Amino acid sequence: MLQNKKILLGVTGGIAVYKACDLVSKLTQQGADVRVMMTNGATKFVSPLTFQALSRNDVYTDTFDEKDPNKIAHIDVADWADIAIIAPATANIISKIAYGIADDMLTTTLLATRADIYIAPAMNVHMYEHPAVIDNMRKLVDWGYHFIEPGAGYLACGYVGKGRLEEPQTIIKVISEHQQHANLLEGKKVLISAGPTREAIDPVRFFSNRSSGKMGFALAEAAAKFGAVVTLVAGPVDQQTKHPNINRIDVVTAEDMYQAIWDHFEDADIVIKAAAVADYRPVVTHDQKMKKQTGNLIIEMERTKDILQSLGDEKSNQFVVGFAAETTTPMEYGKEKLKKKHLDAIIINNVAEEGAGFAVDTNIVTYLNKQLASERLPLASKDEISEQIFYLIARDLKEEVK
Ligand code: PMT
Repeated sequence: MLQNKKILLGVTGGIAVYKACDLVSKLTQQGADVRVMMTNGATKFVSPLTFQALSRNDVYTDTFDEKDPNKIAHIDVADWADIAIIAPATANIISKIAYGIADDMLTTTLLATRADIYIAPAMNVHMYEHPAVIDNMRKLVDWGYHFIEPGAGYLACGYVGKGRLEEPQTIIKVISEHQQHANLLEGKKVLISAGPTREAIDPVRFFSNRSSGKMGFALAEAAAKFGAVVTLVAGPVDQQTKHPNINRIDVVTAEDMYQAIWDHFEDADIVIKAAAVADYRPVVTHDQKMKKQTGNLIIEMERTKDILQSLGDEKSNQFVVGFAAETTTPMEYGKEKLKKKHLDAIIINNVAEEGAGFAVDTNIVTYLNKQLASERLPLASKDEISEQIFYLIARDLKEEVK
């Protein structure tokens, strides 16, 4: 995966710099073209000459050391790089990037580049757990930076804990796998539904459910990250989209969602219905607020349209994926929905399970395709589960083409 890739390696000042030497050596052996940029701190641990010899390229240490008068070095390298890796990344460099500080060659270049950026932290365990560092890392993740988590073990500072720079071969493996999937959905149009629907009783009351939209929004971000153009039909939720390739359409009722989904269905290659659509709505919606009365109130309800069923019945080339939110015998009910709704795959979550289902940041799901091959995706963030779901969809789409 990394052959012929142009890689900028940013090396910052920590004892793990010695591992960066091995990383350069392994990257160049894989056929990558590596240019190394060192902070002042890094040069205290290893001489630039070592990296020059290993990469067979000049090493950059000073913003004002312009080697070629025809070029501005930091812009030239920023434009040249396909991938930027920062290893080891200190707490200092992470914080500087998070605040847009550009006070040396590396930080200036990182601000100017459009390359995929991978950060492999290495620091003392207490520094790694400090709220400032955690906040800064979160901010960078939100901006699309990729972290390669440090390993746990004996640290040079004498502590045992998390903070040890990941091994060079693992760093390369993680980046290679990530790059392999970067264009997974290039050219695909993905239609996703998220959140609940609201079915009004009167102007102030409605029936709804506990869906927060987190699952559907995570799927939309993952699809966009993998290169798809995404249409996200969202019920009333408090969620924001981040990726520019997501076109969000807000709806309220099941009927609105039906219309919005059908408006975009013909064009779609992949459809995922993560929304928790109301199955019933009041037969009558009152124009004015209903007055309290003595005794019980009975509200007559009627079925809404089953959007997913209609998609499964009418689909041509679309790969249609449903969700099943179950509390008992999830696999059985999930399989039944897969067949009845003519789906290509279904994602089954037991919403009674701790860490799964409504309103939490994590999920536990089983992906079941129409050949009845199943994959259990254990407890992970909804972001990670979403990525795994697209790997499985891409796998199944590839099988269909064969
Ligand atoms: O939004 P979060 O808080 O992150 O929670 C995520 C989730 C629990 C909502 C999600 O993981 C999930 O399970 N979504 C499906 C919820 C659901 O309505 O499941 P269901 O088993 O009742 O419906 C089966 C499928 O039919 C779903 O794909 C649903 O979108 C679809 N459906 C249902 C009714 C209807 N009228 N039209 C539909 O399209």
